[in-house]
Amino acid sequence: MYDVAQIRADFPILGREVNGKPLVYLDNGASAQKPQVVIDAITRGYAQDYANVHRGLHYLSTVATEAYEAVRGKVARFLGAAEDEVVFTTGSTEAINMVSYAWAAPRMQPGDEIVLSLLEHHANIVPWHFLRERQGVVLKWVAPEPDGSLPAEKVLEAIGPRTRLVAVTQMSNVLGTRVDVAAITRGAHARGVPVLVDGSQGAVHAPVNLAEIGCDFYAVTGHKLYGPSGSGAIIIARERLAEMRPFLGGGDMIRDVSTDSVTYAEGYARMEAGTPGIVQQIGFGAALDYLMGLGMDNIARHEADLRDYAQSRLAGLNWLTVQGNAPGKGAIFSITLDGQAHAHDISTILDRRGIAVRAGTHCAMPLLTHLGLTATARASFGLYNTRAEVDALISGLELCHELLG
Ligand SMILES: Cc1ncc(COP(=O)(O)O)c(C=O)c1O
Repeated sequence: MYDVAQIRADFPILGREVNGKPLVYLDNGASAQKPQVVIDAITRGYAQDYANVHRGLHYLSTVATEAYEAVRGKVARFLGAAEDEVVFTTGSTEAINMVSYAWAAPRMQPGDEIVLSLLEHHANIVPWHFLRERQGVVLKWVAPEPDGSLPAEKVLEAIGPRTRLVAVTQMSNVLGTRVDVAAITRGAHARGVPVLVDGSQGAVHAPVNLAEIGCDFYAVTGHKLYGPSGSGAIIIARERLAEMRPFLGGGDMIRDVSTDSVTYAEGYARMEAGTPGIVQQIGFGAALDYLMGLGMDNIARHEADLRDYAQSRLAGLNWLTVQGNAPGKGAIFSITLDGQAHAHDISTILDRRGIAVRAGTHCAMPLLTHLGLTATARASFGLYNTRAEVDALISGLELCHELLG
């Protein structure tokens, strides 16, 4: 039984008011709120168990190292991955830049191609633009269908003899489109092409089993998974990890250093230089425990109900457009009012009622350009949202329509 009232009580911030109104937090696509267990893990990490990891042999260093390293196993369990393929990061932006710099850059020649979709977040675009600018790599773009869906076959058709990587999101942060990344991976692998999946949104809203998906790189970011900002991980298949050059140089990622030589650690350690976000990752682990406790299947079912309810209510408003309506999409709604109303005005009016939505291009400018838009107001739902909050959004949008026409 998914008791949303009880779940909401786990998140202290949901009890506060904004602008004199109860907070209605619908900006989960940007970042999710934190349950008390995460806040407690962070407090304990600093108040009781803090020292640097992997270094000293003293008691606190051992305690901190054990708590930190235990998170690797939690990430592996959460995603159906092997523990030795989990590389800690500060989030998806770092993860994808790591792959671009440490794996892709050394093996790309001018004219080699990377297949991307127009649904991508800038974090899965700009690191590939670096290779275009610096090395003459060609970016091949796959557009979504008019309903926002991205058929796997369309992505696979873009693969040619020069394609060296497919980099694609599992879920659009703008349209909520879910992408069949398992089918893309199967098809790309059959053509000998590795696949990077941006799981920043996908992993938040449904169970993920990487043993089934089989992709080479899979990035997640802790702060969208109800954990701290500055935490995250990328799962890298062993064969790919072995092919990677070091990313950042410094402590912990080496085997030996002398005045005229350096050798590197093997496996994930080679990609993790310097003092990491120790307590952030411990908080991330607490968030993953919390999600596994609720059950990702249950969360997915709850959010599907919110999606269906929001879709039925939004369908009754004939003066607005919801961008993208792909079958099975997530509970993310990018809204434009028909007419001249700007998304920032919508978000400001909603904010006066304590409703937090995001206005702008959502770090997906190529998609907005493709849609012929300069901005949308995005309501993105999470595990603690309710039908009553959908109603609050609808009545807020009605006020926007009244005021902005
Ligand atoms: C689909 C997607 N990819 C990547 C990112 C970047 O994540 P981060 O900023 O946590 O590195 C985001 C964040 O909005 C996202 O929605």
